[in-house]
Amino acid sequence: MTFPARRLRRLRRTPALRRLVSETQLSVNDLVAPLFVREGVDEPQPIRSLPGVMQHTRESLVKEVRELAGLGVPGVILFGVPEHKDATGSGAWDPDGIVQLALRDLRDEVGSGLVLMGDLCLDEYTDHGHCGVLTASGEVDNDATLELYGQVAQAQAAAGADLVAPSGMMDGQVAAIRAALDDGGHESVAVLAYAAKYASALYGPFRDAVQVQIAGGGDRRGYQQDPANAREALAEVQADIEEGADLVMVKPALAYLDVIADVRAAVDVPLAAYHVSGEYAMIKAAAERGWIDGAAVGLEHLTSIKRAGADIILTYLAREVAETLS
Ligand code: PBG
Repeated sequence: MTFPARRLRRLRRTPALRRLVSETQLSVNDLVAPLFVREGVDEPQPIRSLPGVMQHTRESLVKEVRELAGLGVPGVILFGVPEHKDATGSGAWDPDGIVQLALRDLRDEVGSGLVLMGDLCLDEYTDHGHCGVLTASGEVDNDATLELYGQVAQAQAAAGADLVAPSGMMDGQVAAIRAALDDGGHESVAVLAYAAKYASALYGPFRDAVQVQIAGGGDRRGYQQDPANAREALAEVQADIEEGADLVMVKPALAYLDVIADVRAAVDVPLAAYHVSGEYAMIKAAAERGWIDGAAVGLEHLTSIKRAGADIILTYLAREVAETLS
């Protein structure tokens, strides 16, 4: 008779044994809540494809953030939904633009007790829905866009952001933003670079949330990464760190766990991963049908993202997971 040489099941026998040998701990300290704030509405608006997530008013945003802080969530990242859009996306750097107003409200409310981040991009503010300004022939103009990103960075920093998070995937964006922050006297504001950001179909519900449609049925493949490429992600991350990124991000998360693990092995800066709108929506939709246990799948997703190597997870599940873990 032959017996197994090693009995791995011994350490799985009781909850206490499993707890003792657990390699990965998901903590509320790892979570960042993405939040939407909409200009010109009196009541928070539900988002059809993101059940449980709202387009906030300035008032309801303050309340939500106060509650998140109370639950121990250490950070939030803001996305604006402006009333008016234009060709350059000027609402993104207007001192009275919706995100700048919201950052001031929140800074007054929470002091330094919570990390305030601004997503730094133009797509929510442009009438054509691209992440940069366009040339006469309709291409996204990399270098003209960098100028504007610098202005957005200064506006968000002046309004109280601790961190700005460029998500537009323009070449040189981190260097341009770092220089603009330093010129504006904002040396202490950090840059969280969406370094490896893929042209993903998982952003669909987010575009409902910020009411963005890309003109002419276009897409972002001319600036976001091809999902087929992993080595290219390391080149993006390396470039962003050389340009001065304080933290880097991989986005989306679950379909890119290999990229998260590769980046973790290659660099020493804090690594964030974004569990994006489509990842959240798939859980909620299947749970609503009773096909999966949504809460359990959510914890499994986030634990796996952490196991792959992420230190920080941006997730629409932040609030409910914080409630579960606390
Ligand atoms: C761009 C931006 C997007 C997301 C975050 N920042 C959308 C895009 O690149 O089209 C997506 C986030 C999500 O899906 O949750 N400002």
